Amino acid sequence: MPRKNNASVAKPRKTASKAKTSRKPKAPVVVEAVTQAPVALAPTRTNAELLARREAAVPRGVASAAPIFAAQAENAELWDVEGRRYIDFAGGIAVLNTGHRHPSVVAAAKAQEDLYTHTSFQVVPYEPYVALAEKLNALAPGDAPKKTLLVTTGAEAVENAVKIARAHTGRPGIIAFSGGYHGRTLMTLGLTGKVSPYKKDVGPFPSDIFRAPFPDARNGVTVDDALKALETLFLTDADPERVAAIILEPVLGEGGYHPVPAEMWQALRAICDKHGILLISDEIQAGFGRTGTWFAIEHSGVVPDLITVAKSMAGGYPIAGVIGRADVMDALAPGGLGGTYGGNPVACAAALAAIEAIESEGLLARSTALGETFRARFAEIGARTAPYRMWDIRGLGAMLAVEFVTDFDTATPDAAFTKSVIGHALKRGLILLACGMHGNAVRIMVPLTASDAIIEEGLAIFEAALADAIAVETAIAAE
Ligand SMILES: Cc1ncc(COP(=O)(O)O)c(C=O)c1O
Repeated sequence: MPRKNNASVAKPRKTASKAKTSRKPKAPVVVEAVTQAPVALAPTRTNAELLARREAAVPRGVASAAPIFAAQAENAELWDVEGRRYIDFAGGIAVLNTGHRHPSVVAAAKAQEDLYTHTSFQVVPYEPYVALAEKLNALAPGDAPKKTLLVTTGAEAVENAVKIARAHTGRPGIIAFSGGYHGRTLMTLGLTGKVSPYKKDVGPFPSDIFRAPFPDARNGVTVDDALKALETLFLTDADPERVAAIILEPVLGEGGYHPVPAEMWQALRAICDKHGILLISDEIQAGFGRTGTWFAIEHSGVVPDLITVAKSMAGGYPIAGVIGRADVMDALAPGGLGGTYGGNPVACAAALAAIEAIESEGLLARSTALGETFRARFAEIGARTAPYRMWDIRGLGAMLAVEFVTDFDTATPDAAFTKSVIGHALKRGLILLACGMHGNAVRIMVPLTASDAIIEEGLAIFEAALADAIAVETAIAAE
């Protein structure tokens, strides 16, 4: 049952990294259907009722992965309006590294709400914005002095990184990569390297955006291939002297959780230095401990010029930012950056508390350990329950995905099977989300604060859902 909604008296959750490591089960665990509603959550509406209202009131373009409606959530668990309990491996799309309603995040937000909730930093500034900027400047890799701009959404952060890069260099061009995802505004859609569903029917996109192939050796593009293609791009379309920035996710998010090899980052750094191009690491999905470090690019040892951040920075509150070298960040004249709500004080307070929780609860180390657990358990589950269907287990730290194919001989992406696994998992009480260019991977974005017991319960449901999906396929084949 969820904790009572009283953050001021709630004790911090037991640190996940200090939780006892449970023994890994050798055989599949039998999992019952989701447990029934805690009494405190007596059902008031049905999911079907709300779904019908939603369909009438909300455009279909805003898709939801799960046909359920949230009533309450706590750490890595969520209850729907019918009182059914779910384990949340999706974390609101990688926003909840510190879990739903982390007590200190909620307490910090409430305390800030009691003081003031909005002044607009551009009218009357406030300390939480400055304190968060100072903290982010200190956490970001590299010794150069840094500055931080705060905005509200990830797409807005990317838009501003582009503006800053253009203003600093006086150049228009931006290079992005195939499979990359940078948001749903028109500039960020232009940068995004995946047509369906994001870019369909909404172009044209801004000019001076160029696309390079993402290095993914398993799909036939080595780092060498990617770098040669970039050199060709410089000859055919993008004069390097007219390129302001190269933007790249350190682990492709929507694109399938493919990490950028360290040698690619190192080569990009050298190319950028040679041509006076800025290097932007889009850490919106990969940052704040998801991969075991504050920023995923740290795994490569490369220091970018700009970093875009959002999502798990504030444990569920809408805030985003651009962190960068102070000389670069100061490129625009006063008034050139900002927005009415940018760096909202409640969200700043939440972010400071979330960052403090990541530090004090050892969540970077927890991420690395969780990644190892997931890798081992997925390998074991795949071999036992779905032989020759789990083509790849990949990622960095706890930013992991498993990819499904029809068979290992053809390695044909199997989006239908992936969808079936996700659907069966939901019926059994586990929220999962797909990713990948072909929609055939399941990504793990579970709160790093989840206990070992919850992780094991979720993995057992995952295995049961995998078995369900195989059983459905077998039954259809037998017809
Ligand atoms: C890497 C990356 N960049 C940018 C964005 C856009 O962020 P937002 O949805 O907050 O606009 C996302 C969102 O998933 C993302 O994963």
